[in-house]
Amino acid sequence: MMGSTAARRLNINNINPHVKAAKYAVRGELAVKSEEYRAYLQRGLTDLPFSQVISANIGNPQQLDQKPITFFRQVLSLLENPALLNYEDVLLSQLGYKPDVLERARWLLSKVGSVGAYSASNGAPAIRQSIADFLERRDGFPANQADIYLSAGASSGVNTLLHILCANEKSGILVPIPQYPLYTASLSVLNAKCVEYHLDESRNWGTDVKVMKEAYEKATSEGIDVRAIVIINPGNPTGASLPEEDIRAVIEFAREERLVIIADEVYQTNVFIGEFISFKRMLRQMQKETPGAYDYVELASLHSVSKGMVGECGHRGGYFELVNFDPEVQAEIYKFVSIMLCSPVIGQCLVELMVNPPKPGEPSYALYKQEYDGIFNGLRERATALHKAFEQMEGVECGSPQGSMYLFPTITLPPKATEAAAAEGRTADEFYCMRLLKATGVCVVPGSGFGQKDGSLHFRTTFLAPGTEWVGSIIKFHKEFMDTYR
Ligand SMILES: Cc1ncc(COP(=O)(O)O)c(C=O)c1O
Repeated sequence: MMGSTAARRLNINNINPHVKAAKYAVRGELAVKSEEYRAYLQRGLTDLPFSQVISANIGNPQQLDQKPITFFRQVLSLLENPALLNYEDVLLSQLGYKPDVLERARWLLSKVGSVGAYSASNGAPAIRQSIADFLERRDGFPANQADIYLSAGASSGVNTLLHILCANEKSGILVPIPQYPLYTASLSVLNAKCVEYHLDESRNWGTDVKVMKEAYEKATSEGIDVRAIVIINPGNPTGASLPEEDIRAVIEFAREERLVIIADEVYQTNVFIGEFISFKRMLRQMQKETPGAYDYVELASLHSVSKGMVGECGHRGGYFELVNFDPEVQAEIYKFVSIMLCSPVIGQCLVELMVNPPKPGEPSYALYKQEYDGIFNGLRERATALHKAFEQMEGVECGSPQGSMYLFPTITLPPKATEAAAAEGRTADEFYCMRLLKATGVCVVPGSGFGQKDGSLHFRTTFLAPGTEWVGSIIKFHKEFMDTYR
């Protein structure tokens, strides 16, 4: 690659500095290195100490071995190639398609026309209605399709919301630490303030409103205009699901300080311990209990096809629902999303399938249920096995897997390791993760990529990878690492 030259108008010192400042560790240096190793192995070279790269750095289930749910892909195949519907007999008798697959595909096609056409900016109306029906079933409170916006994954929804919320460099958003770096990175790009509030590791990464208030007050005293609070529930990287009393306390806090709540609920079905309670349900419940008191608490909640048992990250489908927003603000949000025209229509269709899957008694139900439960149980088994392995490792502490797709253990490393890391200009957790990758081909993300209390070290790994070999290689590496730097 050629270095910077004055011949080009654009160089590293004159591009948008906020883009340069943004950090996104889940796709950072380690991930890039792991892709180099993958390409190297694919060339048939065998002089690395491992024979495969395990991408445990990002929750990308189908990159590992998770199979797509049959019903979803059968419907999508007909949406992409509607001519297949002329061969109903072949589909039904030879290809294992069930009548409800054909019916759903015909219905979706009648609503979106072609998946190759732009839809309405906020998504196809029939799909928004289907999401509203799902929300009503899930929460027991009505939802309005006009308040739902389809997006290209939850990421794009977060991007929209942060663009609307951040008015200038004094605008601040409360973000949990540790967090999924989408939030910090997007706030960097927008040149707005990330106001950190720490989750409590000693309470299984619980949420403490007292800590939020302190962070809020400190930021406000520094002249930051704090406008919203992000809650990731269930958490990434922590997996924790908020209990009802915590959700109520956050809503109360948001009411007192006039904060918009951004509830990132993409892991709502990945729950092993506790139960998922939506912010929408609690907000409506509190509105019902104390009429008038919460009518101006604004909530934006997000969901996605990328996680759960769907795992269709590559299709880029998601949505957000706005509750209690000002109609004029909502009109600007509509305009903002319309600048991108619309989210991918095939992704929108997948959202429809996710929120409206086959029901008991329908022809595709048995297989759907079998696949769904198989994925759920497989994830829980893998999480438990990985957790057991961490329990055996010296200086590694990790709470029981609670949900989402990750474990986030604390690691205590010997001082010599910290010195060796500093000599390479790295933090000790980065150093550890880089060594792990080089020795085993397992790519995890250092805790510094998500934020962690000063003086503590962590790493985040998904528990999506199949088999036990990679877990064994982590145990072996860890022992050798500790012995080297002891
Ligand atoms: C908490 C959280 N929010 C949002 C996303 C973005 O997901 P997507 O844009 O694929 O829907 C992720 C992805 O890992 C996530 O963990």
